[in-house]
Amino acid sequence: MMKPIIIVHGGAGDIPSSRVKGKLDGSKAAARAGYEILLKGGTALDAVEAAVVSMEKDENFNAGYGSVLNLRGEVEMEASIMRGSDLNVGAVTLVKEFLHPISIAHKVLTDSPHSLLGAEGAKLFALEKGFPTVKPESLISEHAKQALNNFLKHGDFGRTEIGEKDEGGVGTVGAVAVDAAGHVAVATSTGGMSGKAVGRIGDTPQIGSGTYADDLVGGVSTTGHGESILKYCLAHSIIKLMESGVDAQTATNKAVEGMTSRLKNTAGAITLSKDGEVGVHFSSQRMSWAYVKDNKTVYGINHNETFEESY
Ligand code: GLY
Repeated sequence: MMKPIIIVHGGAGDIPSSRVKGKLDGSKAAARAGYEILLKGGTALDAVEAAVVSMEKDENFNAGYGSVLNLRGEVEMEASIMRGSDLNVGAVTLVKEFLHPISIAHKVLTDSPHSLLGAEGAKLFALEKGFPTVKPESLISEHAKQALNNFLKHGDFGRTEIGEKDEGGVGTVGAVAVDAAGHVAVATSTGGMSGKAVGRIGDTPQIGSGTYADDLVGGVSTTGHGESILKYCLAHSIIKLMESGVDAQTATNKAVEGMTSRLKNTAGAITLSKDGEVGVHFSSQRMSWAYVKDNKTVYGINHNETFEESY
């Protein structure tokens, strides 16, 4: 049996100092929510869903409640989840009336002949499966409104999914786990980027860009500038490097820096090898992350700074 491990990220970007504590606390809580499931012998798939659900509820993150807004001031969310044992995937995009897009994506994986459902189709599927709706306005936080207003005044889609330094400091969320049976799973969820066009789809629901899991190699979840991540197929680029024998940390560094140098935008990624080795790297100013293994929580948000606590 493997020692189970779960790692989460809470988004890459120019996160203002005022948002650091909320991001770190939320990331640790999410990793622990997933680890509890792994400790009880639960699957990696259920653990990554639980970790992401925890961050979708938390306004410190750009996913579920707290998602950033499109140009019309609406939330349009996206999520994907992948199971490494059979490469099965589930993803949703342009979701507006549900708090937990990741749970709908999980249902797509288990219950749909398709892999990615969007807009009206995702809504019909979710209703058919009994997911409760919420009022779209109830997903909008004050920070998200502020971020859109700032974007409308002077924003551009440069270095981060969240815009300029003081625009709210939130980010995409993701989780990667290896369970006691050695199975890998990955989940990623986002509101996208402030001021995005209505109907814009980013990297998060696109398998190979935002999410990838393969029991034979490992798993990756990414965050950052969506258009760059999807052009570079960032998650799968890291998997490919690992497949060729590169370790998880080196593969994560190389691919994130490769994307940034080629496309001039920033990103971050969290990686686990199939044996539970960790890779964390970001080319943005900050990215919150946390992992739990061996009853120990390890976490950070700044470059070259790592903290440890007992679980
Ligand atoms: N990485 C999130 C987005 O750009 O949509």
